[in-house]
Amino acid sequence: MKSLRIALTKGRLEKSTVELFEKIGYNCDEIHNKGRKLIFRIADGKFEVVLAKAADVITYVEHGVCDLGVVGKDTILENGTSFYELLDLGFGKCRFALAGKKGIDFFHGYKAKTVATKYPKVTRSFFESKNMDVRVIKIEGSVELAPLVGLSDGIVDIVETGSTLKANNLEVKEYVTDISARLIANTASLKLRKNEIEELVGKMEDIIE
Ligand code: PRP
Repeated sequence: MKSLRIALTKGRLEKSTVELFEKIGYNCDEIHNKGRKLIFRIADGKFEVVLAKAADVITYVEHGVCDLGVVGKDTILENGTSFYELLDLGFGKCRFALAGKKGIDFFHGYKAKTVATKYPKVTRSFFESKNMDVRVIKIEGSVELAPLVGLSDGIVDIVETGSTLKANNLEVKEYVTDISARLIANTASLKLRKNEIEELVGKMEDIIE
């Protein structure tokens, strides 16, 4: 039988996902000795694992070249919905927050505020829910820089420990939503490979609980 193919988000979520597989009892030696390789067999070929950037995990699953994916809720909220979200994996916990310079009231005054973010869709819907008119500027990384150099009044970004905000004299003004890693599935795979997917989800649930 063809291996079930799973796309894993490289970096922050990678280690916890591999730990989860190992707790289930799946051998992940190929991933531990990966070098520059991008595709690995785990559990003696029961699964094929693909390592990709978060947004690409969604692309591979949506196009059906990967049956399953492990990706943060942040990326899901920003990047698409044509797949099933099967499980909250309980790791990669952090929050989306609106932040700005310490001691300054972000909401003060009538002038439309400018907000810098890597997540324009999340940011727009947050302010729409408040009926607030804001100008959103897309930044690719280290968003914390934007209010410091005067590009924006605030940022919407991921806060995990809060140390990046603290180190830059910024503070959370309001939390937007909670984030954690999710298991997602291609809609066709969910029908065609139902039993294998259900077996994996069951095993993951046993560990998470
Ligand atoms: C994220 C986020 C913050 C930081 C928050 O960036 O954009 O900058 O982590 O974490 P903390 O609250 O624990 O300080 P990441 O490290 O993923 O890098 P990036 O800015 O290049 O995306």
